[in-house]
Amino acid sequence: MGIPAPPPVGDTALKPGTFDGQTVFITGAGTGLGKAIASEFARLGASIVIASRKLEHRQAGEDAMKALGAEVLTVECDIRDPDAIAAAFDAAAERFGLPNVLVNNAAANFPVPAEDMSPNAWRTVVDITLNGTFFCAREFGRRHLDAGTPASIINIGATYAWTGGPGFAHSAAAKAGVKNLTESLAVEWGPSGIQVNCLVPGLMPHEDMTGDIQENLARTHGGPNKWDLCQPAMRVGERQELGWAATFLASPYGRFISGHTLVVDGANWQRRSLTNPAVVPIREQMGKPPFEM
Ligand code: COA
Repeated sequence: MGIPAPPPVGDTALKPGTFDGQTVFITGAGTGLGKAIASEFARLGASIVIASRKLEHRQAGEDAMKALGAEVLTVECDIRDPDAIAAAFDAAAERFGLPNVLVNNAAANFPVPAEDMSPNAWRTVVDITLNGTFFCAREFGRRHLDAGTPASIINIGATYAWTGGPGFAHSAAAKAGVKNLTESLAVEWGPSGIQVNCLVPGLMPHEDMTGDIQENLARTHGGPNKWDLCQPAMRVGERQELGWAATFLASPYGRFISGHTLVVDGANWQRRSLTNPAVVPIREQMGKPPFEM
């Protein structure tokens, strides 16, 4: 039986207009889960700022927000570059005023055995996922501290922050940093009215999953028709379930929640047994030949 399916996309638990007059700045919101989170804020009345590197992603995000009747601004931004982030916040402030909510969604990831990972591959993922998250939070936080205004930050995390992520050592280490950063910032900025939380998605398939990740899932879990059976919920997640959690955390009803990491994965990451399936080395899982220097 499993956990029942959620209400359909378009339903909201929060009151209509919960985010009227508010602006949500979200990185990487042109695709996938970022777009799903932005959509739930848009549905509840928020104006949306989408910061993204790629024109086609910005366009896709803009189209999706306009289809929901939301005000939207897209800005080109590589979150590895603090000056580009400052310029993106300037553009957002000029159009809508200082955003009230920051969602640090943009991240980088690809499966690779640790011994094959080049220093630049490691640096790139850590730079985008951890450094980029901090740079955006820093810019947003400083502006609110200066203005004396309350705000909410949601950092997107991952369950391998706790467990390690074989085949994803760079991303797992970076996401562990993101979770830890959430906890430091929540305490540092709480006195100034800034809430900081971390939100972790489970498997929520979507058409924008990178080819690398799709191939990895297919190799390790079979096709999409098998994915439900590999989850304790007996189903995968729906992307609106992540969006609902994000809007709740940033809403007036979630104000006392700060420094928290909320996992929306149907308990998948706690799945353990006394004997696990036989160990398959990462190279073998990925269909890679034996390592050679
Ligand atoms: N396997 C191994 N190494 C890889 C790789 C892969 N699949 N993809 C990229 N790299 C390495 C590159 O070879 C390069 O290292 P090198 O200079 O030593 O060769 C390094 O990573 C940087 O890659 P590059 O393509 O120059 O960086 P970029 O800034 O243009 O791209 C990425 C960023 C790497 C994260 C790219 O994969 C990307 O944009 N992905 C889409 C966003 C995403 O990852 N989303 C995940 C959501 S879960």
